[in-house]
Amino acid sequence: MSVIEPQTITLRDGATLSLRSPEESDAQALIDRLDRVRRESTGISFGPDDELPTLAWEQDWIRQRRRDGGVQVLAVAEDGELAGMCGVGVGSRVRMRHRGVVGISLTANWCGRGLGQRLMQELIAWAQAEPTLEVLSLCVNSDNPRAIHVYEKAGFEREGECRWGTKRDGQYIGELHMSRWVGSTPVQPSVSAPPTGARS
Ligand SMILES: CC(C)(COP(=O)(O)OP(=O)(O)OC[C@H]1O[C@@H](n2cnc3c(N)ncnc32)[C@H](O)[C@@H]1OP(=O)(O)O)[C@@H](O)C(=O)NCCC(=O)NCCS
Repeated sequence: MSVIEPQTITLRDGATLSLRSPEESDAQALIDRLDRVRRESTGISFGPDDELPTLAWEQDWIRQRRRDGGVQVLAVAEDGELAGMCGVGVGSRVRMRHRGVVGISLTANWCGRGLGQRLMQELIAWAQAEPTLEVLSLCVNSDNPRAIHVYEKAGFEREGECRWGTKRDGQYIGELHMSRWVGSTPVQPSVSAPPTGARS
């Protein structure tokens, strides 16, 4: 089971939130939260014109996430508001199990208060304790400087950019690929050595 031990955190402004993994009973609140975040922020790929998941789909998604190799974390305010959600998705294929893909989004009233950085620390600590995980990767719109700053501060490095990553209101927005090593060996592997005998 891929769930975190529930804990309480305090932000620098004194606000306290509980961190826990989502349960099936959170499904409708998660759909409502997604609907809110997609209207408040252009930082996520899910837009106002996309179809929201059904309750059954969301419940199934939560069930699967609690079983698979990744983790999902909810940040819940004292009044029960879902302030944020983040997670690491890990593929089931053997060739992809070394890599976790990070996602994070907060509702606008919780942005800029240190919660994003606190959640990134949580995901990194979780990933570092997973014996098979070696790297965390993510994609971020190049016009999202706050998110890029948070990722760089958490140790993520820029790897490259897909120039036509997102199309928003007729404009193309670059999609920046970033990654951070979380494996137990400090040595990073060399990237794609050419096959033996290959001509340059
Ligand atoms: C991106 C996101 C997760 C960051 O979390 P957050 O709680 O708002 O961020 P924090 O308050 O922890 O930290 C913000 C940092 O960015 C800095 N920052 C804010 N605006 C910035 C800007 N325009 N350019 C550069 N840095 C900026 C802040 O100064 C702070 O850094 P510091 O602690 O070194 O001073 C959150 O804003 C969010 O969910 N946004 C909407 C959805 C989204 O964009 N998700 C990311 C998808 S890839």
